[in-house]
Amino acid sequence: MADNTPSFGYDSPFTPSRPRKKRKNKPTQEHRNLPEALERTRQELLVGDWVHKCTKLLRDALDALSLQSPPRVLCLGLGSPSSSRDARAQLAFLLEVCDDLILERSNVSVYDPAFTDEDDQLLATLAMNRLPDSENRNAAYPLPEPNIVYMPHCDLHLYENLLGANWSSDKLPQLVLIANRFGEYLDSIPSHKLTAEHPRVSRIAPLLDSLVLPTCGPYPTAFNNLSIQFVRSSTLGSVDADKLWKIDSPTAELRTVM
Ligand SMILES: C[S@@+](CC[C@H](N)C(=O)[O-])C[C@H]1O[C@@H](n2cnc3c(N)ncnc32)[C@H](O)[C@@H]1O
Repeated sequence: MADNTPSFGYDSPFTPSRPRKKRKNKPTQEHRNLPEALERTRQELLVGDWVHKCTKLLRDALDALSLQSPPRVLCLGLGSPSSSRDARAQLAFLLEVCDDLILERSNVSVYDPAFTDEDDQLLATLAMNRLPDSENRNAAYPLPEPNIVYMPHCDLHLYENLLGANWSSDKLPQLVLIANRFGEYLDSIPSHKLTAEHPRVSRIAPLLDSLVLPTCGPYPTAFNNLSIQFVRSSTLGSVDADKLWKIDSPTAELRTVM
């Protein structure tokens, strides 16, 4: 499968596919009222202490980095909340995070090429900053300020691109990722392949502090294998600078346009 192809579809893999255009903007019967569906999802997530446990982990991560200013949020690869139950749950969790940390929604930027018009309306209602398609950088966004980067179940090349755009000892310790657990890639991909194709992921993974999200009862697949990950300045300072920072290969984003 090509790297930029979503690695799995949404809720109903057995639904016969229809032309993309028709599908894109048609609300499904089940979710005529998307804001209500999102609110139901939010209430489901709030049963028990799962959200509380996760926000506590996130606070721990932010505290460990002693950031100079409140973080902004960049959310990529959420999927389409109107078509995917898991994407809705991931969005509901993001709302809980914003409330818990008292983050302004206007400081939350979100992008996924799969967003439909209905999703766009929902994000506007939530007062989030939906990045336009014209600003799609395949995750290679340089982030000069502290950011929580929420990229649930994205493809590996997007993580590599994000790291590539922030590959410095100043920028990396300002980022808290909520993303696939990078250590899993070390375990599952042969090291020569990972080093050659995703060198930054391969180098940073062993240096990360990783706080794995607990299993979410009502939405197990939405949050499986996700982890809050960050790297401390002190950790970066303790490794051989040449071996860490010098990378000859371009980011995957550059490779795709060459
Ligand atoms: C494997 S799916 C994950 C969807 C959802 N987060 C989930 O866990 O079910 C990867 C997502 O990345 C999105 N994606 C692909 N290229 C992207 C890009 N350049 N920027 C942001 N998202 C992108 C896809 O549209 C897709 O929704």
